Amino acid sequence: MASYKIPVIAGDGIGPEVIAEGKKVVEAAGEVYGYDVEWIDLPHGCDHYLKTGETISEDTLKELSNYRAIYLGAVGDERKVKTGILEQGILLKLRFYFDQYINLRPVKLLDGVETPIKNKTSKDIDFYVVRENTEDFYAGLGGRGVKGLSHQHLKLKRELYSVKFDLDILTDSDEIAYQIGVISREGARRIIDYSFQLARNRKKHLSSVDKANVMTDIYGLWREVFQETAKGYPDVKTDFNFVDAVTMWFVKNPEFFDVVVAPNMFGDIITDLGAMLQGGLGLAPGGNINPEGTSMFEPMGGSAPKYKGLNKVNPIAAIWAGALMMEHLGEGEAANAIVKAIETSLRERKVRTYDLGGTSKTSEVGSDIARIVRQQGRI
Ligand code: IPM
Ligand code: MN
Repeated sequence: MASYKIPVIAGDGIGPEVIAEGKKVVEAAGEVYGYDVEWIDLPHGCDHYLKTGETISEDTLKELSNYRAIYLGAVGDERKVKTGILEQGILLKLRFYFDQYINLRPVKLLDGVETPIKNKTSKDIDFYVVRENTEDFYAGLGGRGVKGLSHQHLKLKRELYSVKFDLDILTDSDEIAYQIGVISREGARRIIDYSFQLARNRKKHLSSVDKANVMTDIYGLWREVFQETAKGYPDVKTDFNFVDAVTMWFVKNPEFFDVVVAPNMFGDIITDLGAMLQGGLGLAPGGNINPEGTSMFEPMGGSAPKYKGLNKVNPIAAIWAGALMMEHLGEGEAANAIVKAIETSLRERKVRTYDLGGTSKTSEVGSDIARIVRQQGRI
């Protein structure tokens, strides 16, 4: 029998509640599909930080590199720790440390869920956003102070856009702040290449997102790499979309999309919109993938501290993330069975949380899906 050891960072707020349901369902699928899971629970998050002063240590990261997948709930609680510390110190740290350059986010309206988009059904909303996960404005290059520049200068110097930043004009004055977006040729190539492969196995249509009309340097390079990479995939149809336009098309014509590849920050923004198309953050999973290293699977939503302990929020995103994780580990059949069970539960409409108009508890949803996984048996 296959056996998996999976480190778990349930984290803060509602993280532990939704991860508990994910574990329940992944284990139920193990009974049917013949695998065993040993969860390795880690304490990282708000309380651990307050107690020890550590977000996640180098030793823990090294230890985690022995595993192929991490299961993550959510980290951060603004009421206790200043926003950004745990997001950067744990979530982004893990993504960067393990070079999880693929952030795979399905935008799929499951049967039995309503979308706020009028007249659209599950046939119309079924695509992937592949978000680059290591570069762009997330690279962490920034600071305060640019020599010769103040608010007044910025107003006067509208030509700033054509000024090439030279690092020696940076100072530590507090008048101006800057954040540098970085795209590397190799960073763009690997994510675009992954997206072409994904599209090739689907409807053979890949849409690229950028803002190459304004940020010509970084997104110009992105486009260039896209065009070069496209030559290797003549069977895949392509198009370029400015990020502002893509948000409009997501709402107006979601059926147009098959696979969408986006730089990190635009990918972040458009996947929250994608989540709404499919019924909300409670239904949106994501995978942070390094095909050769340690990957990480998580619900897209945050820790929602005000709901902590209420057993109220929707665990489906976390359960679905568990399915993505098992698929990544080679349990494709179990993963499909979990998604099918989620859909059955949603279609039956008996057990649903408040966000879907129901009154069920988090744990009731997990138990219902686990029951269906067992009942439907091998499919
Ligand atoms: C996400 C989140 C994170 C991000 C935050 C919490 C740092 O919004 O996973 O989409 O910006 O990537
Ligand atoms: Mn986000």
